[in-house]
Amino acid sequence: MKISFCCTDTKAEPWLAGLRAALPGDEVEQWEPGAPPVDYAVVWMPPQQFLDEQPQLKALFNIGAGVDALMKMRLPLHAAVVRLDDAGMSVQMAEYVSHAVIRHFREFDGYEADVKQGKWSYRKPRLRTDFPVGVMGLGVLGERVATTLRQFEFPVLGWSRSPKEIPGMQCFSGDAGFEDFLSATRILVCLLPLTPGTQDIMNRKNLSRLMPGGYVINVARGAHLVDEDLIALIDSGHLAGATLDVFRTEPLPPAHPFWQHPRITVTPHTSARTLREESIAQIAGKIAAVQAGLTISSLAGVVDPKKGY
Ligand code: NAP
Ligand code: GLV
Repeated sequence: MKISFCCTDTKAEPWLAGLRAALPGDEVEQWEPGAPPVDYAVVWMPPQQFLDEQPQLKALFNIGAGVDALMKMRLPLHAAVVRLDDAGMSVQMAEYVSHAVIRHFREFDGYEADVKQGKWSYRKPRLRTDFPVGVMGLGVLGERVATTLRQFEFPVLGWSRSPKEIPGMQCFSGDAGFEDFLSATRILVCLLPLTPGTQDIMNRKNLSRLMPGGYVINVARGAHLVDEDLIALIDSGHLAGATLDVFRTEPLPPAHPFWQHPRITVTPHTSARTLREESIAQIAGKIAAVQAGLTISSLAGVVDPKKGY
């Protein structure tokens, strides 16, 4: 089999070496314009020219969990899109979100500011029952985050497209369950895929439904959040603040108000990084399974084009 590696913003050599070692019977090459046809591609934000030149592709293996950028492109007619299915991301996401929740709940920013001024001061312990965490998106990452937060005994709620039952948490689903989910949530975590149905979901109307003193953690995609609505609700006092890892434009432009806002913490899209070794092992394992006779559609992480994730 022939495999192309076509990833922007990614150093190709270590990926090529890893894929060749994991798939010794296959040909793995970095794509160049005009290259001969291949069977599979390993991609991250590939140029449209690559997709147009390779109409015979059987599958595109995306080296990220989110496929929103890819799903907006003109794809080869019969190519399945296969995203990373965890590959070491869910533990990173659980760390990041737990850190953000605990930092806010325990007021560690306030303690840090006090200590910088040489102050030995106590704050009244807050009740975790007053800080229910609502996780939007209960997929590979959202469910791991939600169950990790349960370990710290936060009340946890979840919201997904299809109904779910997860021990220890109240699950809501679909449009019918959304308002009840939001109004019972104080700390909102977004782990939805970006699709036409979820874009701008964190807007003024929906964020206003959170409990007073609400807090927003966006680790999915920048376009889930309406930036000016978040700022207005924080400045009005309805929301206490936000931790944001993803932005409409990345890198976050220097003049964007998020950088300097005292109640907003910014990180540079780093909550769950693609881990090369885990990702190569997962993608090579899937290619080998297909070569051994498994159908591509039965692989974990195959994207449903109708749903867009
Ligand atoms: P996933 O397994 O596909 O899970 C998606 C979840 O969202 C599912 O529970 C799905 O519901 C739910 N959902 C989708 N559309 C919905 C809608 N319209 N209404 C309600 N729920 C909806 O995805 P994942 O692997 O957990 O990843 C989630 C996202 O995280 C990715 O798409 C990516 O954008 C982001 N991400 C960010 C980083 C980072 O570093 N910041 C890293 C990795 C991923 P069902 O279960 O009913 O299908
Ligand atoms: C990162 O944001 C990913 O989608 O893997």
